[in-house]
Amino acid sequence: AFAGAPDEAAFWTGRTFDDFLFRPQKSDSQTRRNISVSSLLTADVGLDLPIVSSNMDSVTGAHMARAMAMHGGIGVVHRGMSIERQASEVGVVKRSQSAVIVRPLCLPAGTTIRQARRFARQNGITGILIETASGSNLLAGLLSNRDTPVHGADEDRPVDDFMTPLSRLVTGAPDISTDEAERVMFEHRIERLPLVDGANRIRGLITRRDINLKREQPGASKDSAGHLRCAAAVGARGDYLERAAALLEAGADLLFIDIAHGHSVVMEQAVAGLRGKFGSVPLVCGNVATGAGARFLRDIGADAVKVGVGPGRGCRTRLETAAGVPQLQAIREAYLAVGGSVPIMADGGVRTDKDIFLALICGASTVMLGSALSGTDEAPGRVIEDPATHLKKKIYRGMTSPEAVLETLYDSSSEELDAALETPPEGQEIQVPYRGSVSGILERIRGHLQSSVSYGGEITLAALREKVLPDPSAFLVPLSAAARSESYER
Ligand code: XMP
Repeated sequence: AFAGAPDEAAFWTGRTFDDFLFRPQKSDSQTRRNISVSSLLTADVGLDLPIVSSNMDSVTGAHMARAMAMHGGIGVVHRGMSIERQASEVGVVKRSQSAVIVRPLCLPAGTTIRQARRFARQNGITGILIETASGSNLLAGLLSNRDTPVHGADEDRPVDDFMTPLSRLVTGAPDISTDEAERVMFEHRIERLPLVDGANRIRGLITRRDINLKREQPGASKDSAGHLRCAAAVGARGDYLERAAALLEAGADLLFIDIAHGHSVVMEQAVAGLRGKFGSVPLVCGNVATGAGARFLRDIGADAVKVGVGPGRGCRTRLETAAGVPQLQAIREAYLAVGGSVPIMADGGVRTDKDIFLALICGASTVMLGSALSGTDEAPGRVIEDPATHLKKKIYRGMTSPEAVLETLYDSSSEELDAALETPPEGQEIQVPYRGSVSGILERIRGHLQSSVSYGGEITLAALREKVLPDPSAFLVPLSAAARSESYER
């Protein structure tokens, strides 16, 4: 049952984003530009932009997770791949930007150019430290893009023939300041500064690019060591403990236990298993769609509760099973049930930026997006061109769509695959327009959220939520069909 008063239940029942508009409030501010839209992902982790990219194989891999964190949000690397590969994607994000890369990737002397090229591509790096021998951690040289010969006759020669050897390499001390490192790199016109101790042991790497990025992105989501934050998804059974261990080892900041029906004993066992092995690691659990479900997740120890059953665009759950609650109602129910004791993440069903704002002022602290971020360069998958119209598109698909299930289990045994395909799909594959870089979308969302807060008469999202959350019905205008067509039909 609804945790609120009876008239509150009546107000929300059956309602979702397109059912309301927000009543504009008097504003005392001159500009919308400095409005803060920061919010809490968990009690301990804040986001400058309260947006999370879905753990779906057509939405979040390393590129998306990196872009999300750079813009102040966070990405959840999907689990539809091997444990090693998912951990490596997390590693790419964690190493990608910070003043000091504490554990730079190395290859041993003697590696061939072909292997080095593949290693650089797989890990998304453009300079590789070369150590004297595998595991020695002693610097022998640096192989940068510019040192790597063009494809051809040299592929099987060792990197030693092309790298800048230690004798000619400019290096820094492990405790060098960012300013000093920048000065040294400028003086020598170099892009990378390996950090070594007196015995030439590798102690870090600083790059010009990372220093510049750090300056440009003051609101980026970073951990206490200055690395971009990255989350990753695990399941609730099977190899999930092994997967979690590898993801945490790779530096994942939060784990998402993401299952279709989060209000279940399966979830309870999974949380107990993770807590038993990894203690207080931050866990975001879901999905649920009711107050009882939200309270259940809080009580079993979730650090954030993910809400949404069936609103997603690639989703057929409601059509095939009738399970679900309209998304804005679900958010409100969940919020009332846990009374602000744990942050709510709204997941699915966002089609326009106003939906994000409504989710945030009705109870969600953060909002997860799938289709809204798909179709971008940073989402996995290729751009396809329609031969007839020449319009560019990308694929977006539910994680239980037959296509995603097949690909996820590509390397599995045929029994595993048969078992998975026996469950009828609750997801589907669709084509979405190609939309360039996700940066433009994230900055548009930020701008629209700032404008919404300004219409609410406040200069921070936090202040507006404090004003509205006790009773959003005083701020929302329910729409008739005629009113909706005034808004939407152009
Ligand atoms: P949007 O609307 O942002 O939704 O595209 C993204 C969310 O959809 C959920 N999801 C699924 N739901 N079957 C479902 O019922 C699926 O196959 C599926 N795949 C993803 C998920 O919560 C995601 O964040």
